[in-house]
Parts: sequence; C-alpha cells; structure tokens
Amino acid sequence: MATHKLLLLPGDGIGPEVMAQVEKIVGWFRKRGLGFETETDLVGGSAYDAHGKAISEEAMGRAQAADAVLFGAVGGPKWDGVPYDVRPEAGLLRLRKDLGLFANLRPAICYPALADASSLKREIVEGLDIVIVRELTGGVYFGEPKELVTLENGQQRAVDTQVYTSGEIERIARVAFDLARKRRNKVSSSEKMNVMKTGVLWRQVVSRVGKAEYADVELEHVLADNCAMQLVRNPKQFDVIVTDNLFGDILSDIAAMLTGSLGMLPSASLGMEDPATGRRKALYEPVHGSAPDIAGKGLANPIAMIGSFGMALRYSFGLVEEADRLEKAIANVLASGLRTKDIAAPGTNAVGTKDMGEAIVRELEAQS
Ligand code: NAD
Ligand code: IPM
Ligand code: MN
Repeated sequence: MATHKLLLLPGDGIGPEVMAQVEKIVGWFRKRGLGFETETDLVGGSAYDAHGKAISEEAMGRAQAADAVLFGAVGGPKWDGVPYDVRPEAGLLRLRKDLGLFANLRPAICYPALADASSLKREIVEGLDIVIVRELTGGVYFGEPKELVTLENGQQRAVDTQVYTSGEIERIARVAFDLARKRRNKVSSSEKMNVMKTGVLWRQVVSRVGKAEYADVELEHVLADNCAMQLVRNPKQFDVIVTDNLFGDILSDIAAMLTGSLGMLPSASLGMEDPATGRRKALYEPVHGSAPDIAGKGLANPIAMIGSFGMALRYSFGLVEEADRLEKAIANVLASGLRTKDIAAPGTNAVGTKDMGEAIVRELEAQS
C-alpha cells in the first residue's frame, strides 16, 4: 500500500476548526485502505506564541519532507502588534517561497444547490466553473526593496516592489494553458500593461508562449480592473484566468462570492514537477483567512478546507476517483439543503462546522 505523508498545519482562528473536519475525512479514507500518515505542527500566530516566529525550522523541514501540506489559516488581531518579519502571515509566505509553490490554482465552482446563495442573481452564477491561476512566489509580495523608513524631514516612506522575470511568467502561463486544454480551452490573461512595466512584460510573454506552444488555445488579454468588473458582470465568459500574485489575491476573493461564500473556495499551490520522480511539492489551503469574527464559535464553513483536501487527492496522489467521490459528497450534502450560516438564506436554519463535516463523512459512507 502506498503511503502518503501529509503535514497538517491548522494555524489560527477557524483554521483548527475546519482542519478538524478534514481529519475526519482523512480518517474515513484511511479506513477504506488508503495509506495516509499525518503529522501536525504549528504555523502563524500559534507558532509565534510557541517559538517567537511564524514557522519553526523543524516545521519547515517537515513541510519539505511531506508529500503534501494541508494548511488551515493564519493571523488575527491578537498578533496585530508583533514585528513585521514574524507576523503570522510570514509563515505562509515562507512556505510558498521555500517550497517553490509558484502556481496557485483557485477554482470557483457554483454548486447547483447554491445558485441562490450568491449575492449576485442566480442566472449570473448558475453553472459557473472557472479557475484563477495565480502566480504565487513573485511580484510585489517578494520584490526588493521592500521597506518602511523614516526620512530626515520626519516623514515616513514605504516601498514595495513589483518584479517579474520572463521565466517566472512563462512557467505560470504554461500551467494556465495546460489547464485550459483539459477544460474549455480558453485563457484570459490579466495585468495592467497600461501603467506597469511588469504588465507589459506579462502580456508579451503570455502572448509568445500562447502563439508558440498553444496555438489551439484561445487567448485574450483583460486589464485587471476590467477583469474585476467582468467577474461580477458576466463571470461565465471566463474559463481560466492567469494573473500575478496581487491581482490573483484580489480577483479570487471576488470569485469566491460568485460561489456563495469565501468559505467555499479551495486552492492548490504547486511547485515544479521533478523530472526524475514526476512529483511536485504541494500545499493545499482554503482561500479564506482565520475569520476572527467567527473564530471559536463553531460556525465556520469547512467546505473550502475539505475541498482543498479533495485537490490534494487529485493533484498530489492521483486519486481521481476518490477526489470525484469527495466532491460528489459535498454536492449531495448541499443538495440535501444542509447549510452553514455563510451560505444559508437569511432567517433559515444553519448548522455548525462539525455538523457539516460529519454530514460529508456520512455521505461518503452512503455512496459506497
Ligand atoms: P477572512 O477570510 O478571514 O474573513 C473575511 C470574512 O469572510 C469574514 O467575515 C469571515 O467570517 C468570513 N469567512 C471567511 N472564511 C469563512 C468560512 N470558512 N466560513 C464562514 N465565513 C467565513 O479575511 P480577513 O478578515 O480580512 O482576515 C483575517 C485574518 O486572516 C488576517 O490576519 C489575514 O491576514 C488572515 N488571512 C489569512 C489567510 C490564510 O491564512 N491563507 C487568507 C486570508 C486572510
Ligand atoms: C491568501 C491570503 C494571503 C495572501 C495572506 C494571508 C498572506 O490572503 O492566500 O489569499 O495575500 O496571499
Ligand atoms: Mn487572499
């Protein structure tokens, strides 16, 4: 039996609450004979409280050695005052950078049962199935200089730097084109070439890769501000959207609301394939954060976290049938009318995190 080594990093706020539900799903697959081995470690504010930094060297070593990392969420008001370099979010950024996770896939699917849960009209979102491919290890998140200094005149000055090389753009473009070929064959590339040099380079490189290697895939260019508007106006025009680190962060929160809630959006962060083994480093995380406003109340929707494990089944372990089964279980539970508060119609009954997790496990059981 193949062994799959999973590192669980629940993190802060609702992170541990939603991760506890994934552990039940992992347990169910283990009972069915799949060889999952799990380890758990600290990240974010909880790691800062224990070690004075957002992730320990030991946890980094475990992440490097794991077949896949499952990540909950980090951050919260408790750590607002900690030094910038050790703030909770630094743990996540270090994982992305050190594991080389340059490709972040953020699928936004509107489950049929949730077409009325979005803040947009049913006909705008019904049947929606798009993927945002976000570049994750470059751009303004990591560009140097990055500083906040006090000037001689007493004013302060802050600098962030957006940097991209053609190589970084080429590799993320290929991820988007390859994905589009397995879907509806269309890539929308989003930047701001009208004001940014990185945008000019982005458009040039994506066009060149498209023409030379993917002439069969339709390619369009959409300025990022227009892309945000189009996502709300008519999101079904898109198939795969490829964009930089910061625009991808913002566009994916917009896309989340098309599915009903931020609590619905999973993601996969993938590294380069090792040509010798065919394997890639990978981290799976919901798009949402630690939700301090509902943390500790048992109200969080665990579907984004459970769906992220579904992506791990598919992308890290090649367990396509199991991934399909898990997605079907989620769809069936939603079709049965069960709702956490974020996706329930106002004034209707909602269940908690644990009830939703357990209903999905029961549905997996019922399917087999
Ligand atoms: P957030 O995503 O934590 O929450 C935004 C809103 O969405 C809140 O009202 C929250 O209650 C709701 N929400 C989020 N996830 C939900 C879920 N699963 N079920 C139901 N409702 C859900 O964003 P924020 O409030 O801007 O950030 C809070 C903290 O989280 C910050 O410290 C931020 O840096 C951090 N953050 C972390 C990650 C991550 O760890 N990947 C992602 C985003 C934000
Ligand atoms: C996300 C989050 C992170 C980001 C933060 C927590 C660093 O918002 O994964 O979407 O900005 O990438
Ligand atoms: Mn974000």
